[in-house]
Amino acid sequence: MRFDQRHLLGIEPLRPDEITTLLDLSQRYVALNRQQQKRSTVLAGLTQINMFFENSTRTQASFELAGKRLGADVMNMAMEASSIKKGETLIDTAMTLNAMHPDLLVVRHPHSGAVDLLAQKVNCAVLNAGDGRHEHPTQALLDALTIRRAKGRIHRLNIAICGDIAHSRVARSNLLLLHKMENRIRLIGPPTLMPAGIDAFGAEVYEDMKEGLRDVDVVMMLRLQKERMDGGFIPSEREYYHRYGLDAEKLSHAKPDAIVMHPGPMNRGVEIDGTLADDINRSVIQDQVEMGVAVRMAAMDLLARNLRAQPKDVLA
Ligand code: NCD
Repeated sequence: MRFDQRHLLGIEPLRPDEITTLLDLSQRYVALNRQQQKRSTVLAGLTQINMFFENSTRTQASFELAGKRLGADVMNMAMEASSIKKGETLIDTAMTLNAMHPDLLVVRHPHSGAVDLLAQKVNCAVLNAGDGRHEHPTQALLDALTIRRAKGRIHRLNIAICGDIAHSRVARSNLLLLHKMENRIRLIGPPTLMPAGIDAFGAEVYEDMKEGLRDVDVVMMLRLQKERMDGGFIPSEREYYHRYGLDAEKLSHAKPDAIVMHPGPMNRGVEIDGTLADDINRSVIQDQVEMGVAVRMAAMDLLARNLRAQPKDVLA
């Protein structure tokens, strides 16, 4: 089992064997999480600080639960109430926290690259919980685990990522991971929501849902990220749903056993039909949430092992 990273800043620096290591370990945490007694001491004595500069439900809750189940002391910083609001820079806040000797820092930030910058300034392991439209590595890993459990493998699958690709860190991290694991990836969405130069990633680009979904094994839907749009990217939500919203009819073009995914939060009736999202025979959206806790436990476990392997000299 090899995992040579100090931080988890993105999927980009990970090797395929490191991704497999992480998924294999996550699988063990899925089993632990299904027991009544979920407590482990893997992170006992370590301090985990969660800093979310952007709203989050699932990601923050699952990082908190993951740390607590592994026995860490977990603190959630209320960023709304923090000194950032008084004009303190991100780096000053980070340095202040660093002086309190955390071991694991979980950071979500609206600016791409902010988490990498922060990681250069602190002594602890940093986990990126989403930075702007750049990366969201634990989301791609939990998606990979969900796919691997549903399909029995995470290679040589036809996977469609649909909707607002341009503003989505989820799409970017997934694209990187699925490409490293040798899947065939299709990106489906209106040209206004397709980033320039995306073909360089080795994916096929489609404008039409029915064409793009033909014979895929996995359909990954994305939220329309209105908060990151600074203009009219779509004619109207109604028109968008008509052309790009996933419903039973559009899904019928995929393989009969294709699974439906969504990272949440969902806009029912905008990018996905509510009944389909709740259909437990097709939708694995709740599995994704369950896998999220396990993947975050595995990621923090592996980073903590690497921290222990390079102990700081306390008297230096
Ligand atoms: C995603 C995010 O924040 O990037 N949500 C999540 O982490 N589950 C996707 C989104 O906000 O649409």
